[in-house]
Amino acid sequence: MSDSQAISAAVAKLYNTFPFPPDPLSDQLPPGYNWRWHWQAAYAFCTGRKPETSLIRILDAGCGTGSGTDYLIHLNPEAEVVAIDLSEKALAVAKERCERSGSWANHEPPVTFEAMPLQQASELPGEFDLINCVGVLHHLPDPIAGIKAIASKLAPGGLLHIFVYAELGRWEIRLMQEAIALLQGSERGNYPDGVKVGRALFDTLPEDNRLVQQEKRRWSMENHRDEAFADMYVHPQEIDYNIKTLFELIDAAGLQFVGFSNPQFWQLERLLGDNPELMARAQSLSDRDRFRTIELLDPSLTHYEFFLARPPLEITDWSDDEALLNAIPEISPCVDGWPGRTLFDYNYQIVNLSEAEFEFLELCATNQTQPTTVGELLEPVALTLDGVRSLQKRQIILLASP
Ligand SMILES: C[S@@+](CC[C@H](N)C(=O)[O-])C[C@H]1O[C@@H](n2cnc3c(N)ncnc32)[C@H](O)[C@@H]1O
Repeated sequence: MSDSQAISAAVAKLYNTFPFPPDPLSDQLPPGYNWRWHWQAAYAFCTGRKPETSLIRILDAGCGTGSGTDYLIHLNPEAEVVAIDLSEKALAVAKERCERSGSWANHEPPVTFEAMPLQQASELPGEFDLINCVGVLHHLPDPIAGIKAIASKLAPGGLLHIFVYAELGRWEIRLMQEAIALLQGSERGNYPDGVKVGRALFDTLPEDNRLVQQEKRRWSMENHRDEAFADMYVHPQEIDYNIKTLFELIDAAGLQFVGFSNPQFWQLERLLGDNPELMARAQSLSDRDRFRTIELLDPSLTHYEFFLARPPLEITDWSDDEALLNAIPEISPCVDGWPGRTLFDYNYQIVNLSEAEFEFLELCATNQTQPTTVGELLEPVALTLDGVRSLQKRQIILLASP
């Protein structure tokens, strides 16, 4: 067995022992939404525009026990969904989850689950418009080979959403992983034993120990389940990234970096906005150096999440008044609390609407049956074009090109 086969076998064994995520199965459809799994919202985030079609194909690469797949199926009723994973056990739970929740039963286009390493994605027929690969690539023996394999299945103009670990905020985790492995000795690879050793360590170390404190402060809520504890502390394969190595991975994919899907974290203003001189110095930084500066100054970062695209991906910024006046607006499907003057936006942040914004949204809400342009809807409302741009930037409305 080659090294990389041995790693894959060890990873499959971990997830067959402790399928992840251990979210309980439910007889209800997945609650709320996650906009990253909603094609229209994700596409609008990346391009500024509502996509022309929702008749798409989605690949969930490394679906685990299917918490994300359940959303992908439920939030994209017109999409064919294919979910693959290395672990048979995780896949069995994923199928059961999507059956039990009702997302699958209510879904007309095909949904398929397949046991397959994502490195072999080329064997899947056709291309995909949206590929979701969350929490997987960093567990591969060769993540670059993995990202290339899934990138090759992305349709032109398609989006790839990736989540991988960041090294700076996982420092304490890495130390604990190594300590557990040393204490396990020849039992390494026995995952229940690793969990036992890890839990005993946390119980035994002094209260003010740095690893204990970080576990309590940051992770203990999720780690009370052994599956999550094992995924974090007893993993046989984990590669953590920094901005430099992250962009080596991205560049190897041969795709376009569209942006982080948690853009708030990547605003330098939130760290240095009180100091205009430092902000001015940062002006000349390249994007990548600015990202690096941010992670250095806020090393709490535990993961990167971002969208890549296969060109061509046209971006619409709506700076052109004429184009904006002719756009067809609708309320974003990811807004919660409508109709109301106080809403939750796509990130569940509270938005207080002005009177003019509220009136405009009331018109947008009825804009499904007989699509009307921004220009026409603005006639009776005292909202400016910049007001419409602001609603679009905050993802409260989707704009479609006519
Ligand atoms: C941390 S879980 C993430 C599951 C899911 N994506 C989520 O975010 O909830 C990692 C999953 O990736 C799967 N996996 C690891 N290596 C893989 C590979 N080479 N091909 C396909 N799946 C893989 C594991 O079996 C496991 O189910």
